[in-house]
Amino acid sequence: MPHILKPGGRIGIIGGGQLGRMSAMAAAEMGFHCHIFSPRDDEPALDVAPSATIGAYDDESALRRFAENVDVVTFEFENIPAESIALLESLKPVHPSRKILEISQDRIVEKSRLNAFGLKTAPWVAVTDPDALASIEAALGFPFILKQTRFGYDGKGQWRVNSPQDLEAIQDTLPYPLIAEGLVDFDRELSVIVARDLYGDAFCFDVTENRHQHGILDISLAPARISPELAASAQDIACRIAHGLELVGILAVELFLDAKGELRVNEIAPRPHNSGHWTQDACLISQFEAHIRMVAGLRAQPLTRHSDAVMKNLVGPGTYVAASKALETPGTRLHLYGKAEARPGRKMGHINALFPKGALPGDLGLAAALGPILNDGLE
Ligand SMILES: Nc1ncnc2c1ncn2[C@@H]1O[C@H](COP(=O)(O)OP(=O)(O)O)[C@@H](O)[C@H]1O
Ligand SMILES: [Mg+2]
Repeated sequence: MPHILKPGGRIGIIGGGQLGRMSAMAAAEMGFHCHIFSPRDDEPALDVAPSATIGAYDDESALRRFAENVDVVTFEFENIPAESIALLESLKPVHPSRKILEISQDRIVEKSRLNAFGLKTAPWVAVTDPDALASIEAALGFPFILKQTRFGYDGKGQWRVNSPQDLEAIQDTLPYPLIAEGLVDFDRELSVIVARDLYGDAFCFDVTENRHQHGILDISLAPARISPELAASAQDIACRIAHGLELVGILAVELFLDAKGELRVNEIAPRPHNSGHWTQDACLISQFEAHIRMVAGLRAQPLTRHSDAVMKNLVGPGTYVAASKALETPGTRLHLYGKAEARPGRKMGHINALFPKGALPGDLGLAAALGPILNDGLE
């Protein structure tokens, strides 16, 4: 029997970051109460949720207390120990499932599964110990990227290797296990967020085009400026993954559009995603509301976009100049996460600039539209 949460129902969110904060705000709008599980008591989600359990992610008694206080469990953070999710699953429904979380936690398992679904990825080989380093060149050639299989984010735990000399320079410092990926000569980076409900119906948001700076997402454009056929294939890929994994919840799929015009899946994340923040202001149902709806057992419905949007991340330091400029710029909405310290590289907030549907500016127009709030315009 599907689990359907009534208004007043309690949703437990593991992780206290900005994704939890914005999910909890969406939940509150729908009459649900969120209870956050976080190791620290000063996290962004704690400002906006009525209750919390503070404990380490592997603290069994804290996890049990958390479970007692909620009707259903979800997460905004992926690096939760599998045993902790297993414990929670024995106590309350958990969406998305432990199985999906475990796949997304390990780049080797993730790539194997995507390839088993018949989806293209970058060419890759597992590098489980130092002896395997020697075989990468024959399998992939140079250049390649070494990535830690677990716990990477925002480009952390990755090494670009262009030559045997590069490899020699880093080989004594590498952690294992690793995955080596051939460098995809990509034209664009895209992402799709799919929501799938307990009944097996799935809908996608429009495809997003993403630009990174120093390994951190900088700007997302929605819709991606690609052909309708390519957009449909990207959404089809996301739906295939969602159905294949029997997802209940939302899942982000990061894709490369390679130089030959083919789509290759980079990675998946079974949670709200930074590249979906534009949906807060340009869609009737945001990714955060879609997340909460799926977890609450509501039926999925089309994820309609009513405006074009550009999302600009505010990354520390220098955030507040952009934030105040955004507040003065008509057609833009500011979202700050309530973090005290704007450390370099830390995601502090984002800005959604909205345009009438069909009016998303090209590169020149983009600079004009975002001018005051682009990095270049900041001190
Ligand atoms: N195989 C690859 N080929 C080309 N670029 C890549 C490849 N893998 C990663 N990148 C670049 O590095 C960024 C971060 O890598 P990703 O695997 O998404 O890790 P993270 O978990 O840090 O987001 C990607 O968005 C992309 O720009
Ligand atoms: Mg990524």
